[in-house]
Amino acid sequence: MPTNIINGKEIASAIKFEIAEELRKIKNNTGKEAGLAVILVGNDPASTVYVRNKKKACQEVGIRSSEYHLPKETQQDTLLNLINSLNQNPEIHGILVQLPLPNHIQSDKIINSINPDKDVDGFHPINVGKLVANTASLISCTPLGVMTLLDKSEIPVEGKKVVIVGRSNIVGKPAALLFLHRNATVTICHSKTKNLSDYTNKADILVAAIGKPAFIKADMVKKGAVVIDVGINRDEAGLIGDVDFTEVKERTSYITPVPGGVGPMTIAMLMKNTLIAFKNTLNKDLN
Ligand code: GUN
Repeated sequence: MPTNIINGKEIASAIKFEIAEELRKIKNNTGKEAGLAVILVGNDPASTVYVRNKKKACQEVGIRSSEYHLPKETQQDTLLNLINSLNQNPEIHGILVQLPLPNHIQSDKIINSINPDKDVDGFHPINVGKLVANTASLISCTPLGVMTLLDKSEIPVEGKKVVIVGRSNIVGKPAALLFLHRNATVTICHSKTKNLSDYTNKADILVAAIGKPAFIKADMVKKGAVVIDVGINRDEAGLIGDVDFTEVKERTSYITPVPGGVGPMTIAMLMKNTLIAFKNTLNKDLN
């Protein structure tokens, strides 16, 4: 069976095109534009690239983006005050604080201070709770991107054995809930899982979100499986995923590459969440 390489870049472009159309229509009808605030504290090189890409995507779809680049030594209260003023600002519909934050800042305090209606990352406990209850409108962008890639590639999820390697709040845990809501049978593995390949080898859909370059090898993957690589690791050669793409792709029915797989989808989903948050405010204005 030949492997299908899922083109995340192309799927993300098509989604951004649809979002741009919808935003254009809303602007024509109401004169209103969506606004996203992106906050970066410090100069972490990976975060700087992510923030640049997010800003570029905003320009592509017609979202007004305001970037707040604060120095590494910024005090927690300064950041809380900025978020508070963005919470109050009616022209800002989405607020994103790029993680990780410097160690002297408590990330949970910062996330909790964002108005849940503007939490386009879906990290606020209210939005996490709604995700558990399957009533969420703002869902963490990377897991949402993974699910959208599967849907657009017409890969069925219901009844499948899904194994997720990685249990982060940003990817592993919300991904598990999304798959569960789609009637998959979900297993979450992590760094303390014993005999990991016993689990990964049973997966119809394997999601790698470990943060270790080329960690998933061919002998850990069932023949014909779908493999989704969420990893973004950097080495001298450039970006490398959590999956050993060259050897694993020989065994899969579908696989995502790095770069050009999940990464562009995360950003497309951020645009989608900003559109949702914006539309929610328009609907509130009508009521
Ligand atoms: N750092 C790594 N991934 C993410 C993400 O999806 N959102 C934010 N805010 N920071 C991140």
